[in-house]
Amino acid sequence: MTHHRFLSLVLLLSLPLISPPGLSATEARTLKDAYHDAFLIGVAVNPAQFEETDKKGAELILREFNSISPENVLKWEHTEPRDGEFTFAAGDRYVAFGEQHHLAVIGHNLVWHNQLPAWVSQPPAGAEKLTREVLLDRLHRHIMTVAGHYRGRILGWDVVNEAIADGTGAYRDSVFYRVIGKEFLVMAFKWAQEADPHAELYYNDYNLDQDDKKRATAIELIKYLRANGARVDGIGLQGHYNLTYPSAAKIDETIGMFADLGLKVMITELDVQAIANQSISGAVGAFPTTSTRPPANAAKRWRGWGRSQPPKPLTPEQQTALAERYGEIFGVFWKHRAAITRVTFWGLRDADSWRRYASPLIFDDNYQPKPAYFAVLKAAK
Ligand code: XIL
Repeated sequence: MTHHRFLSLVLLLSLPLISPPGLSATEARTLKDAYHDAFLIGVAVNPAQFEETDKKGAELILREFNSISPENVLKWEHTEPRDGEFTFAAGDRYVAFGEQHHLAVIGHNLVWHNQLPAWVSQPPAGAEKLTREVLLDRLHRHIMTVAGHYRGRILGWDVVNEAIADGTGAYRDSVFYRVIGKEFLVMAFKWAQEADPHAELYYNDYNLDQDDKKRATAIELIKYLRANGARVDGIGLQGHYNLTYPSAAKIDETIGMFADLGLKVMITELDVQAIANQSISGAVGAFPTTSTRPPANAAKRWRGWGRSQPPKPLTPEQQTALAERYGEIFGVFWKHRAAITRVTFWGLRDADSWRRYASPLIFDDNYQPKPAYFAVLKAAK
């Protein structure tokens, strides 16, 4: 056998290995390749994946994606669980995994009202009241320490997450807003820039493409930050969608509006509930169809109700509906590929998803691509 022939044989034999599971060698295009010239394709990762105990998960991530977001490990409750005590072990492994495999590493997040340890909102020992000065100090130290720890290694940070309320256009009544005032937003962006000058800085929220008042406030927020000398590079539309909401037209319009502000647009936490009107029986009842937001602790409730078993597999009709919806959404993203810099799925497999009850992702529990995966591939023209 000639050298050349031998090489072809090796290549041929190795093709099934580099194809996603369930794909033949001829269909060996991957998501990151298909969207290579459009935007990054990311996925939120958990410790089992980035520590590679979930080997299949890690392999699939490296085959299909070129960006990662930390599903939980860089949130305040993980990085500073106690006043002034920082823990970076898990975060360091997350970042190292990304660097080792040349992925675009995202930071999520620096300031959020959720997964915020209780001490942050409490007065210091002996004091009666949490003062503005104390909370500003805590915020400053947190941002400088966490963003500073990863300085130069993070492509972009979700600096502030979910600071706007639903349905009213008001700022969210978080401890930061209540105790510091609206300026906490300016301070957060300025400190993040100081801590890691080369990291991109994002504002990240959900339902901006669903709730016009919320979107209007987000636009006002961007202008307010800039008017006060803070740099903001991008907007994160979380993208927790369902089969109906938000409409493709609203997503389209919203991306356009943020792009017009000169922002990089990112879809940061994409998942699509495959089951309309999904309810967790015995728990809170049906999710409202008009909201793309599941109950905050839905995944925990699912487990709490003794449901360690996976939900019923989707019917072929449900698979098709999910695929069509993903195709529709990615059609919009493709159209806006000049403004969009990254689309990140909020989890790899349905089994990894915080909305597992609604089978919202494009890989099933067995790491197999669902019809929705192929619809996403197809939308890249
Ligand atoms: C979720 C995680 O996926 C869950 O594991 C965790 O229990 C709760 O948070 N908006 C965000 C994400 O910005 O950080 C949230 O992630 C989902 C909603």
